[in-house]
Amino acid sequence: VAETDPITERFRAARADPGLAVLEGLHAVKHALRFGAEPLELVASAAVDAERLAEELAPDVLDQVRAAERIPAAVFATLAPRPPDTGVIALAPRPAVSAGDVLAAPGPVVLLENPRNLANLGASVRVAAAADAGGVLVTGSHDPWHPEALRGSAGLHYALPVARLERLTALGGERPLVALDPGGEALGGEDPGGEPLPSDRLPPDAILAFGSERHGLSAELLARADARVRIPMRAGISSLNLATAVAAVLFARRL
Ligand SMILES: C[S@@+](CC[C@H](N)C(=O)[O-])C[C@H]1O[C@@H](n2cnc3c(N)ncnc32)[C@H](O)[C@@H]1O
Repeated sequence: VAETDPITERFRAARADPGLAVLEGLHAVKHALRFGAEPLELVASAAVDAERLAEELAPDVLDQVRAAERIPAAVFATLAPRPPDTGVIALAPRPAVSAGDVLAAPGPVVLLENPRNLANLGASVRVAAAADAGGVLVTGSHDPWHPEALRGSAGLHYALPVARLERLTALGGERPLVALDPGGEALGGEDPGGEPLPSDRLPPDAILAFGSERHGLSAELLARADARVRIPMRAGISSLNLATAVAAVLFARRL
C-alpha cells in the first residue's frame, strides 16, 4: 500500500477542522491575505507559474506567493477534491467570530436561513463583503466556513465577520428583522423600473433574511420578521437565485 504524502493528510484533515480554513486558488488566497489571514501553509504546484500569475493578478501578495512551497503536480492534485487551476492552495486559522460579533458590527447583517448550496453561500458572503455589509449569519447544517463556501466567496470570509447562528432566538430583538420573500410587499413599486428602494423599509441596521434555495424562509422566521418584502420581478419569474437576491438588495441600498 502506497503511503499517503503527509501534506495530503494535513489538507484532508483541515477540511473537517472547525478551526481551519482551506483557501483554494490564487483569488481566495489573495483576498484572505489582504484581509488579515495568516496562512500556516501556502503551497504552489510545480506545474503552474504561480509567480507570473501573482505578478499579473495580485502583485500586492507576490512576496507571499514567491515564498510558497513548490510541490509536484501529482501531490498538488491530492490537496482538494477540485484542485484549483491557479495551482495555489493554503491553510489558515479561521478568525474567532461569534454570532454576537456579527450582530454588534455596524451596517446591515445578512442572514442566510439554511442555505443548501455552498457556492451560493460563498457568493452571498462575497457580495456582502463587496457591499460593505456588517456581517453574515448562517443557520442550518452547513459549516459557513466550508472550503466550498470559501471558494465561492473567493476568500472574502476574512473581509467581514461570518458565523453560524444556532437558533433564531439568538438574534435578540434590537435590530429590525426584514424578510426577503418573493411573496412579500413589493419594494420600489410593482415593476422592475419602479422607484429606488425606500430606505425606511430597509433600515441601515436591519438584519436582512434570505431563505433556502428550494423552500425559502421558515414559518418561524416569517413570524418573527418586522417586515416582509420582495424584489419586484417580471411576471412569470418565481424567484431570483439566493446570492443574486442578496446582491440586488445590498447594492440597491448603495447605488
Ligand atoms: C431561490 S429563492 C427561494 C425560492 C422559494 N421557492 C421561495 O418561495 O422563497 C432563495 C431566497 O432568495 C430570496 N429571493 C429570491 N427572489 C426574491 C425576490 N424576488 N424578492 C425577495 N426575495 C427573493 C428569498 O429570500 C428566497 O428565500
